Amino acid sequence: MNIIPAQVGAPLDEVDTPALIVDLDAFEHNVRSMATFARSAGVRLRPHAKTHKCPTIALRQIAAGAVGQCCQKVGEAEALVRGGVRDVLVSNEVVGMAKLRRLAALGAEATIGLCFDAVEQVEAASRAATEFGVTIGGLVEIEVGMQRCGVAPGTPASDLARRIADAPGLEFRGLQAYHGTAQHLAGVEARERAIASAADAVRETLAAISGAGLECGIVAGAGTGTFRIEGESGLWNELQSGSYVFMDTEYARIGGAGSERYTEFQHSLFVLSTVMSVPMRERAIVDAGLKSYSAEKGLPWVHGRDDVEVVGVSDEHGKLKLGPRAAPLGLGDKVLLIPGHCDPTVNLHDWYVAVRQGRVEALWPITARGASS
Ligand SMILES: Cc1ncc(COP(=O)(O)O)c(C=O)c1O
Repeated sequence: MNIIPAQVGAPLDEVDTPALIVDLDAFEHNVRSMATFARSAGVRLRPHAKTHKCPTIALRQIAAGAVGQCCQKVGEAEALVRGGVRDVLVSNEVVGMAKLRRLAALGAEATIGLCFDAVEQVEAASRAATEFGVTIGGLVEIEVGMQRCGVAPGTPASDLARRIADAPGLEFRGLQAYHGTAQHLAGVEARERAIASAADAVRETLAAISGAGLECGIVAGAGTGTFRIEGESGLWNELQSGSYVFMDTEYARIGGAGSERYTEFQHSLFVLSTVMSVPMRERAIVDAGLKSYSAEKGLPWVHGRDDVEVVGVSDEHGKLKLGPRAAPLGLGDKVLLIPGHCDPTVNLHDWYVAVRQGRVEALWPITARGASS
């Protein structure tokens, strides 16, 4: 674990770097605006904790109207329940009795849900739930276009739903229909087309489930790129968006209605870095590299400085190129970087430094950081 990078009350300039900064005004705007959308669309909001990995943020989302959280790993579910979250869906498949027992153990303290795409997973989860005397809610994950996990829509999905409904310790709750690759398609029309095709798969499956005499209470899915489309579809009734709380450059680049940038939400997550070397006027090196942000979806942007570009990264260094008329950067100057991809960037840090108008207001531990099992 790294040392705590700041004291509450300190100005941003005194925060030790590299540090993960949350701008509270932008963050609260994002939390509020997604909750307002869900309320007005008449759907439930269960934000994804794979983005923030932090019970403090989860509880803020719940206070704003979310019904609970989803996560991808049992370790994330453990951190959320330990931090006071009482309704957690693992929106993913879990294989192996050790993990399933850990998940079932959480059922004594919280409402727990889990996704399935194979009968063997259902049988194993049923054994774990029965051992612990708890009920685990089951969602059948269907393939809706991203070609990751998920059974085929229609009868294969309703057959699996029947197996869940009949399994001791499990309760069939609904469908998981998340189209991940649709989230980052450039342009609103491309995203609409992808979700229209996912909707056909959902419709076919709902008909098959109803034909099997089962009730499908939940149709879950959606991310930050398509939440409006699923939310207004009349089919999905539980939204799982995660990145909206922070935004990153990958999302900014997908474009919005009539605009090159996706501006539904504000950038609220930054990596604060310090200029540690200025070998020449047009080049500055900051002390934050791959140990402080991920770069697999692109290099960070420099916040508030269109005339400065991140042009290279190595483990401990970020290389900045200054435009010809850019104000010079000097040793010790602080630079805020907007990460390319928020989730893996968060996974590199132990603390959020929550800042309002240039002053540290709180420090939030990222307790689900590194929860890979
Ligand atoms: C199953 C599932 N639901 C929801 C999300 C949230 O997506 P986003 O962070 O793009 O809003 C993800 C992200 O990978 C996911 O895997």
